[in-house]
Amino acid sequence: MTNPAPVPAAPAPAHPLTPPIAAPSILSADFSRLAEALSIVDPARDWVHCDVMDNHFVPNLTFGPLIVGAVRKVTRAFVDVHLMITEPERIAPEFRKAGADQITVHIEACADVARTLAAVRASGARVGLAIKPKTPWSAAERYLEDLDLLLVMTVEPGFGGQAFMADMMDKVRAAVAWRSAHRARYLIEVDGGIAPDTAREARAAGAEVFVAGNAVYNERDPHVALAVLRQAIR
Ligand code: DX5
Ligand code: ZN
Repeated sequence: MTNPAPVPAAPAPAHPLTPPIAAPSILSADFSRLAEALSIVDPARDWVHCDVMDNHFVPNLTFGPLIVGAVRKVTRAFVDVHLMITEPERIAPEFRKAGADQITVHIEACADVARTLAAVRASGARVGLAIKPKTPWSAAERYLEDLDLLLVMTVEPGFGGQAFMADMMDKVRAAVAWRSAHRARYLIEVDGGIAPDTAREARAAGAEVFVAGNAVYNERDPHVALAVLRQAIR
């Protein structure tokens, strides 16, 4: 008699890379109950957005690779790390070691943008580049070809709960046009003031990944709020 074939463990869900994607930002979550906050995220559909701030590039100060490692331990979802730190080149690979699937650096924060993007690429993470509201679209153009993600900030980076800047939709439209003209592959993410109504507006402009802190974690039922956001961007 032959032994029955072992039943394989359920495969981990493939990380979603096809838009639209909702990305709840843990910046607005209760860090004393991080696992509970992360339990609303569906690894097959959503990303988890982690905002790293250094009290230098932005006035606020949040967390580093230690907490990203904790996030990695409690969720199988795609971990989307947004570095709002000065000169991220040297520390970026530490976030990959902690479990980041994607690392986004700010164009305004890098001593050498191309070298920083190369360091992120070499770490094995997907590569993102972010632009602040006052940074012109044209500043990003020469780095776009090899990017996996372009993050168009729709508030000044630093804090959750600010108002969505609708005039950033021109940059989103420019990003869509550039990508098709140059056969690039980056996804277009928006971050700041995203709630169901502003997400719909950004989606109409061509945005594909929707970061939301306040509109998910400061709602009475974050699980329902995330479902409403997913519905708005469909
Ligand atoms: C702001 C951060 C955002 C923040 C967004 O600098 O990059 O990711 O969590 O928060 P809301 O969705 O509340 O505007
Ligand atoms: Zn962010």
